[in-house]
Amino acid sequence: MDIRILPANIANLIAAGEVVQRPSSAVKELMENALDAGAAKVTVVIKDAGRTLIQVIDDGCGMSPDEAVLCFERHATSKIASAEDLESISTFGFRGEALASIAAVAEVTLRTRREEDSVGCQVEFAGSRHMSTVEASCPVGSNFAVRNLFYNVPARRKFLKSDAVELKHIVEEFTRVALTRPDVAFTLIHNDRDIYVLHPAKSLKFRIQDLLGKNESDRMVDVQAETTVLRVEGFTCRPDLARKTAGSQFFFVNGRYFRSPYLHKAVMRAYEGLIPEGAVPSYFIYLQTDPHSIDVNIHPTKTEIKFEDEAIVFQVLMACIKEALGRNSFGAGMDFEAADAPQMPVISRNFDSYRPADYNPSQSLETDYNPFETPAAVDSYKAPDSFKNPGSYVDSREDYGKLFENQTVPLSQVFVLDGRFAVSAAKDGLMIVSIRRALERILYERFLKAVSSGGHVSQAALLPVKVTVGAQNRLLLDEHSALLETLGFDITPFGGDTVVVNGVPDGFSCDETKVEALVHEILDILSTDHTSLPGVLESGLAEKFARAGAASGKNMTSPIQAQRLIDTLLSCDSPEFTPRGHRIITVLPLDEIDRLLQ
Ligand SMILES: Nc1ncnc2c1ncn2[C@@H]1O[C@H](COP(=O)(O)OP(=O)(O)OP(=O)(O)O)[C@@H](O)[C@H]1O
Ligand SMILES: [Mg+2]
Repeated sequence: MDIRILPANIANLIAAGEVVQRPSSAVKELMENALDAGAAKVTVVIKDAGRTLIQVIDDGCGMSPDEAVLCFERHATSKIASAEDLESISTFGFRGEALASIAAVAEVTLRTRREEDSVGCQVEFAGSRHMSTVEASCPVGSNFAVRNLFYNVPARRKFLKSDAVELKHIVEEFTRVALTRPDVAFTLIHNDRDIYVLHPAKSLKFRIQDLLGKNESDRMVDVQAETTVLRVEGFTCRPDLARKTAGSQFFFVNGRYFRSPYLHKAVMRAYEGLIPEGAVPSYFIYLQTDPHSIDVNIHPTKTEIKFEDEAIVFQVLMACIKEALGRNSFGAGMDFEAADAPQMPVISRNFDSYRPADYNPSQSLETDYNPFETPAAVDSYKAPDSFKNPGSYVDSREDYGKLFENQTVPLSQVFVLDGRFAVSAAKDGLMIVSIRRALERILYERFLKAVSSGGHVSQAALLPVKVTVGAQNRLLLDEHSALLETLGFDITPFGGDTVVVNGVPDGFSCDETKVEALVHEILDILSTDHTSLPGVLESGLAEKFARAGAASGKNMTSPIQAQRLIDTLLSCDSPEFTPRGHRIITVLPLDEIDRLLQ
C-alpha cells in the first residue's frame, strides 16, 4: 500500500469543503478577520448573492507584502505565536484555515497596506496558486475581493441555492457579526444597493434597533445575570410578541456567535406558559465565560460550542430570563384562545346535513365575497339616537328586524355565538360553523387560485399605515413584491427600513391597528425557506397567508355577515376542513338535541 501526502491544493480543497460551504461562510470569515485586525469600519460588497463577488474592506492593521502572501498558506495565523499559545487554539479557535480555504475555491485579490509602509501591495491567488504580487497604492487596511466562488468545484456550485436564499444567508452572517461589535461601523451592499449602513452605535440596543427596526427593539426586555462561572447580558422579547417562525434568535459567547439547540430550550423553558405553542421569542443573549471552559473547535465553522458544564449554563440562562420576564410582569393568564380554538366535537360527518334548511346553492355563491365587508343594508341603516345613548334602552331585536327586512334569507336562521361561531338551523339539526376557520378556508382557496392561475386577489384599501421593519425585512418584502401583489397586498417602500401598507387582501378586514402585526406575520412567512416543490410551495404559502388573514379578522358580530360567510364557505371546494385539517362545520343532530333534553 502506498501512503502519499496529499498535495497542498487538494488538502486545501478538502478543508475548504468544510470551512466554505457557501458564499455566506466566506463573508463570515473575512468579516471576523477584519475585526481581529482592529478595524473600525468594515464594508462588505456582494455581487449576485456572492457568486461573482464577495469583497470585504477594512481599515484595520493591514499586512506587509510577505504576510499578504503567507496569510493564504494553510495553518498561517498571526494569532497563535508559540506553543504556549496552543491552548488558545481551543479557546479562540484560530486555525489559520479560513483564507487558505477561500483561496482554494475562488480567485482572490488582496490589496493591503500597514500604517508604517508608504506603499501597499496587491496579491492574487486562484485555486490555491499564488499568481502574482505587485506594489499597489492603497489605504491602510485590507481589501479582499473573492471572485467566482467554487469556479473549480462544479459540484459545490450546483449545490448553491437561489440568489434569494444565498443572500439571506449572507445577511444572516453579516447580522451576526454586526451584533458582536456595536462600536464598529458596518456596511453591506448587494448589486450596488445599500442593504445596511450601520454607524457605530452607542450601545447594543441601538445596534439591534438599526438592524431590526425600532419597533422590535423597543419591545425588548433586559436580561442580566452574574454568577461565578458565567455572565449573561442581552435582550429578549416580550412574550406577546413571540412569533410563529424562528427569526431573531442569537447566542454569543465571548463575543462570538454560536448556535445551540440545547440552550434554545432553556430560553423556551423560561417562556413556558407565557407564549402559545409553536411561537418562538426573539432573543439576543451574550454570555461571558472563562475561555478555558469552552471548546469552540468542535465544528468546522466554529458555530457550535461545547461548554464544560452545559447544565449550569442552562439553569442560569433559564432563571435569569424568567426573572426578567417576571420583573416586567408578563405573568401567565394571557389570552391564547384566539391562536387556536379547541377542536369542536364531531357530531355528524354527513355533508348534506350542513346545508341550512332552505339553503339554495344557486342563490348566493360569491367566492370573491368579503365576508367582513359592511353590507349595503347596514350602510344605509342609521342607528336611532337612542342607540348612541346608553342611558335609554331600545329593544335591539326590533331594530335588527328593520335592518334586515330586505334580506332574502330569513335572519332568524343565523346568529353569532360568542363572536366565534355562526349558528344556523340546518336540515336535521343545528349547524355550527367556526368563523375563524371558515375564513381560513375561504382565504386559502382564494389565494391558491390567484397564485396558481396567475390572477390577483382583489384588494381592500386601508388608510396607509407606516411600519418600520428593519432593512433586512424591507429587502425581504421587496424580493417578494410580485407574490404579495398577487395575494392582494399593497405594500410599498417608504425609504430606509420603513414600508407603507395601503391595502390588504379582500377578506382580511384588518383594521389599521393590526397592520403592523400583520406585516410581521407576513415577514415570518416569507423568511421561511420556501425551496420545496412548486405545488407544495404554493399551497404552503396560501395556507400560511390564510391563517394570518383569518387571525387578523375583526370579531364578527352581525348575523348578515355570518350568513354571507356561510354562503361563501359552502361554495368552497372543501368547506369541511381547514387546510390544516381542523373541522370547520359541525351539525348537532335533532335526535342528539332530544337526547340532551331528556
Ligand atoms: N483583514 C485582515 N487584516 C490583517 N490581517 C489579516 C486579515 N485577514 C487575515 N489576516 C492575517 O491572516 C492570517 C490568516 O487568516 P485566517 O482567517 O486564514 O486564519 P485565522 O484568522 O488566524 O484563523 P481562522 O482560520 O480560525 O480564521 C490571520 O491570522 C492574520 O494574521
Ligand atoms: Mg480568520
